[in-house]
Amino acid sequence: MGERVAVIGSGYVGSVVAACLAHVGHDVVGVESNPEKLATLRSGAAPFHEPGLDNLITSGLAHRKLRFTDDFCDAMDSSDVVFVCVGTPPGPDGDADTTAIRGVTVAIAQNLRHYHVIITKSTVPIGTGFWLGSLIEDILGPAGRDRFGVVSNPEFLREGSAVQDFLHPDRVVLGSDDPKAQEIAATVYRPILEQRIPGDIGKRDVVPLLQTKLTTAEMVKYASNAFLATKISFANEIARLCDFVGADITEVTAGMGLDTRIGGRFLDAGLGWGGSCFGKDLSALITTANEYGYRPRILEGAVSVNESQRKYVVDQLLGHLKTLRGAKVCILGLAFKPHTDDLRDSPALDVAARLIGKGAFVAAYDPMVTAVPDVPDIRLMPDAIRAATGADAIVLATDWPQFLTVRLTELRRSMRGDLFFDSRNNFDPILVEQAGFRYVGIGRGGATTPPRVIAHREQPRNADQGVGVR
Ligand code: UDX
Repeated sequence: MGERVAVIGSGYVGSVVAACLAHVGHDVVGVESNPEKLATLRSGAAPFHEPGLDNLITSGLAHRKLRFTDDFCDAMDSSDVVFVCVGTPPGPDGDADTTAIRGVTVAIAQNLRHYHVIITKSTVPIGTGFWLGSLIEDILGPAGRDRFGVVSNPEFLREGSAVQDFLHPDRVVLGSDDPKAQEIAATVYRPILEQRIPGDIGKRDVVPLLQTKLTTAEMVKYASNAFLATKISFANEIARLCDFVGADITEVTAGMGLDTRIGGRFLDAGLGWGGSCFGKDLSALITTANEYGYRPRILEGAVSVNESQRKYVVDQLLGHLKTLRGAKVCILGLAFKPHTDDLRDSPALDVAARLIGKGAFVAAYDPMVTAVPDVPDIRLMPDAIRAATGADAIVLATDWPQFLTVRLTELRRSMRGDLFFDSRNNFDPILVEQAGFRYVGIGRGGATTPPRVIAHREQPRNADQGVGVR
């Protein structure tokens, strides 16, 4: 018998939380206020692409362990634990916009008819859990204090592998100043901590549980994302030095990564990071530091290096093509990373917009992106060959695996020019040059060897072991 769980917000995080908690045996009700998204979820599908999620939603609905509603009161009356999974988009001043969190908190307070554990899953500014508790107390008055407990449970989900990351996490972090709430939250995660996942194949190690204070858990999330982003920017800074001295960054990071204190993951140099999290979380953490009068120089450096990578690619193209005005550039990959159609803060899209702004004509192909409303001048093509037709240069901007199997000689024959800018260091320079291209990477230092230890490239965790559906 599982716990009775409500999940408020059925977006990238909430729908994964709801479907996975139902899959491990809890009775889950997901709340979604958007009518179209609610209808999609009730039909058994997620309103966006996430491998494995549709199957879990369908299974949860079929086994009556999962349902979706827009009735907040029903969700609260049908649950004892409520996950807050609404967005905290970046505000104009860099701080996270907590409008949605405030709205949900007020709704929770107004529908709190029995004891609930309130679990903040969204990435929220440090101190939000404390603020949330105070706001509910303010609404309910002193008598309300015993009717809830607050827990921070940060998410570490990567788009494209969120289901695997939730069911097989490296760790679960639960932060609370209330022991009772802390223990109830741990009970919800027991099947995952013990790795008792229905339909799972293979025996896995138990998952570590970090139980700490409320604010500490919130900081773990920000510090983790900030470190991952800084690690990538560090690799990119070294890559720029590699280009000066003629070293190969893929070999440098391979050598670094063999040191278990460093590890080889998140050291792939190139166009840098994008997505809805790294930039937003770094910005929020920097804003928090500034509020206390502290300048977080390392975090500011990570942001600055990342932004410079996009400009660097455009500057390099100008150097090679001598002019961008009138140049025809093919961009392969637009999503911020492979296995998603998400364009939020996509480095590829940023480069495309910068090229267009300098008078270039940009054609692009991405296996999943079918519309680019924010950059209407990009000509979206149905495949790589047609995107490259007549182009002076190709920019490999998102390291989709399928680009590695494109016929390079056919690609070259379709072009007007011969420049292949591998901004993700995904290709073997020898093969590219044998196909008639001039190869340019980032930090390859003129290398003529294949990129080393490419296996470190981020793959969905445990991608080889699916999660069966009951
Ligand atoms: C990230 C964090 O990994 C996850 O823990 C957090 O919960 C949400 O934010 P996500 O943004 O989905 O996940 O994608 P991720 O796989 O981390 O990649 C982020 C960006 O970094 C992508 O643009 C990717 O291309 C880039 N990247 C990643 C690199 O440039 N080099 C690397 O070595 C790894």
